[in-house]
Amino acid sequence: MKNIAIFYASSTGSTKKIADEISIDLAEIKEYNIRITGSEYMTDYDNIIFGISTLENGKMQSDWEEIWKEFCELDFKNKDVAIFSIHNQVLFPDNFVDSMGELYIQLKKAGANIIGFTSVDGYNFNNSKALIDGDKFVGLALDIHNQNDLTSSRIENWVNLLKKDFF
Ligand SMILES: Cc1cc2nc3c(=O)[nH]c(=O)nc-3n(C[C@H](O)[C@H](O)[C@H](O)COP(=O)(O)O)c2cc1C
Repeated sequence: MKNIAIFYASSTGSTKKIADEISIDLAEIKEYNIRITGSEYMTDYDNIIFGISTLENGKMQSDWEEIWKEFCELDFKNKDVAIFSIHNQVLFPDNFVDSMGELYIQLKKAGANIIGFTSVDGYNFNNSKALIDGDKFVGLALDIHNQNDLTSSRIENWVNLLKKDFF
């Protein structure tokens, strides 16, 4: 497998917990908290997973906001990139996983080959900026607050999907 890393930020610890779980399934993966490393090291990897959450009603998590300007200057051409995101579809059904959509748009602009799209089946929300073709999320959407019983199987299926492209 080519070299692989996961970059995440986490205000209350949810995204970190999921990053740890995803990492267990992927050998030799390096894990970075962007609060500590910023956007450094991101382009050192051929396979990259990003973890992001939405806070303050639709706004991207604050560490991501902090590095956003420098992140937008990075080139992700020839990189396989996947995104996961933790949210709450019951409390915030109008902007479910919005920040995953914003990250996707920027990564596309920066030339990344985005992998790991997932079906919207099984979710219940009104609007999301993270939809593609009307029926898919641009990455893995998790709602540990309301559907935690589905989290492990969603992660397992997603990681198996990524492995096909990451190898
Ligand atoms: C103040 C606040 C605002 C939030 N706003 C949204 C939102 O607009 N959309 C959404 O899907 N989730 C929203 N959430 C849910 C968070 O994305 C969710 O709690 C997530 O687990 C936080 O992850 P983190 O602790 O790793 O940053 C919000 C949570 C809080 C506490």
